[in-house]
Amino acid sequence: MSTSVRIGVFDSGFGGLTVLRALLPRIPSAEFFYLGDTARLPYGSKSQTTVARYAVESAQRLESWGAQYLVIACNTASALALDAIREAANVPVLGVIETGADSAASSSHTRDVLVLATDATVQSHAYAQACAARGLRSIERACPLLVPLIEEGWTDHPVTRQVLRIYLDEALATARDHGYALDTVLLGCTHYPLLRAMLEASLPDGITILDSAESTAQRVHQQLEANAQISNGNDSSDINLARCHFFATDSIGKFRTLGSRFLGQPIEHVELIDLGG
Ligand code: DGL
Repeated sequence: MSTSVRIGVFDSGFGGLTVLRALLPRIPSAEFFYLGDTARLPYGSKSQTTVARYAVESAQRLESWGAQYLVIACNTASALALDAIREAANVPVLGVIETGADSAASSSHTRDVLVLATDATVQSHAYAQACAARGLRSIERACPLLVPLIEEGWTDHPVTRQVLRIYLDEALATARDHGYALDTVLLGCTHYPLLRAMLEASLPDGITILDSAESTAQRVHQQLEANAQISNGNDSSDINLARCHFFATDSIGKFRTLGSRFLGQPIEHVELIDLGG
């Protein structure tokens, strides 16, 4: 049994750090390689072919650094490119759609769920399919303006509040038209957990807000334990970043500033890499 399994975490940018944040205390013995393809972000407005090409290149790079397990923290890449990544990779690959739908299935009593995500994720209907497979009805709502607003740092800004209000009003009206009784909102984009407080204040009472970070971390832990790549019950409050290596394809300074916000603590060292065009 290895005591330091190497886990690769991939996202189009910084948002996947919310997943790394959940992984760190859960798997304290692992060494993490986080790759944010910031030069080619956003993925959420791109075609399936392009997202698959970018995501496969990133996954292969993580594997070339010795990653023994890949977590595709990006919802858009998970929705559009998981099969392509699995085909290209020689190690287990976990996406965030199934784990997110699992949390919605455990949480929802009415079985009616609202999924907020990027345009590309919504158009793929990956969440609707994963929800339907678990006996849930879903409304999928694309919120394309939220990623740039969050990257601007406007997580408590009147403009973001207004934009969110418009998206939510439309989604809630659609749910009413369909006769759905929503009790769960699933955040199907890495960035949206940063708007949790604003969402809580904007949604009707009795709606639970979920993201896939925790359930993904839990699944990674279970699978590594089952493969005997980590030992049993070693959760820790230790989130020592010495076990993390950060890589980005664009501005290191921006990654450190924005990434620290997503990770919840300062990121000191980031390496710039080139994945081509
Ligand atoms: N990481 C993407 C996602 O979770 C959001 C940012 C992007 O569009 O690249 O869908």
